[in-house]
Amino acid sequence: MTDKNTSRRTFLQMTGVGLAASPWLAACATAQSTSIPRRAQGMPWPNWGELPETPPGPPKAGSVGIAVVGLGGYGIGKSLPAVAEAEGTHVAAVVSGNPEKAAKVAAAYGLPDDAIYSYDTFARIAEDDRIEAVYIVLPTGLHAEWTEFAFAAGKHVICEKPMALTPAECERMIAASKRANKKLMIAYRCHFEPYNLKATELMKAGAIGAIQTIETTNCYTVGTATPADDWRLVKALTGGGALEDYGLYGLQATMYLTGETPSKVIGQTEWQTEDPRFTEIPATTRAEIHFPSGAVANLTTSYNMPGSNTVIATGTDGKLIMDPATYYDGNAMKLVKGDAETVLTPGASSVQFSRMVQHFADAIRKDVEIKTPGEMGLRDSKIIQAIYKSAQTGEAVTL
Ligand SMILES: NC(=O)c1ccc[n+]([C@@H]2O[C@H](COP(=O)([O-])OP(=O)(O)OC[C@H]3O[C@@H](n4cnc5c(N)ncnc54)[C@H](OP(=O)(O)O)[C@@H]3O)[C@@H](O)[C@H]2O)c1
Repeated sequence: MTDKNTSRRTFLQMTGVGLAASPWLAACATAQSTSIPRRAQGMPWPNWGELPETPPGPPKAGSVGIAVVGLGGYGIGKSLPAVAEAEGTHVAAVVSGNPEKAAKVAAAYGLPDDAIYSYDTFARIAEDDRIEAVYIVLPTGLHAEWTEFAFAAGKHVICEKPMALTPAECERMIAASKRANKKLMIAYRCHFEPYNLKATELMKAGAIGAIQTIETTNCYTVGTATPADDWRLVKALTGGGALEDYGLYGLQATMYLTGETPSKVIGQTEWQTEDPRFTEIPATTRAEIHFPSGAVANLTTSYNMPGSNTVIATGTDGKLIMDPATYYDGNAMKLVKGDAETVLTPGASSVQFSRMVQHFADAIRKDVEIKTPGEMGLRDSKIIQAIYKSAQTGEAVTL
């Protein structure tokens, strides 16, 4: 890819001559005037996401009523359908800063007008017994605050990934959950996706021997958007960029496949600050991730590379190739041992969304231990920060 102005070498030279030259600080300095602000506000109809043709039927007895906060692409396209589809949950309310959009979505889910909340009226959900839990589907920079508001209203919370911008924010969310004595789950859908579950099982059973390397890619090309019209390019709303948003899938895969957490990371960011898309965040982040067993992963994630979503694990006895690895649907996987290739089809990837939400309901109703708790989001946030710290200092960071 073209790396106009900040190769690793030049980046390190810049940090060597003083932090004032750091793209991170330059990004912070220029972040205010042209960016979407870091506050909850309504947005237009998203560029994807379908509404149901007919409203879902009445909830089953004991079903958990969930308010979905943020009616963007993912909220409309995946979160609402998953909540409606899972046996043990139903859509009880919507929360949005766009009243027309909220009314349309509420009608499609058969909700009465008084089940539509705005960001200004959100606190009133405390008195609404139809709502037991809140699903936060807002930009990342708003996750901590709105999770705290939801706990303050006495509700359980499932929060989209990445959990928050920093480990400190993640800790605030966990503390709020404990204070409220309510569940907190991070919506890491791949922990409920058949291909990723099968891959984890195979690695645990030693299907490729001892894992030596894992290569992950999570890349796509952001269109013509800028920080004025896409929160994913706004540092205060997205954090560091592609790593939190998309590379997180690769990072997570390295951990559930090895069954380990990293002992050391070496990060590298590539900046293209002359490109209007990347004035606040790096275009690409790479990381070398070392595990206690000796396995080493190489992660590449970018908003400026052709689409790619792969995980390739190589062990002493073979190779597991997942391509695509973590899509919403249609993942593919094969096991290679010598000349033999076995294609594996463990099930429809699309079940991951409703299974995840069902797990949240089981945690609430049956006190099942949450597979993807706030502590997992905190762990990941710490690793992400370590990768960025390494990129800034040019030194490996030990965890
Ligand atoms: N698990 C996954 O595979 C996956 C995939 C995509 C996204 N996500 C996560 O889902 C969350 C939302 O992503 P998305 O793709 O749905 O984003 P999106 O399409 O941009 O929608 C975000 C929605 O958040 C609300 N919002 C409130 N304040 C906002 C602000 N200052 N700037 C922008 N939006 C604001 C708006 O809803 P209203 O107009 O209703 O107020 C907006 O439509 C993020 O945490 C993202 O990481 C997860």
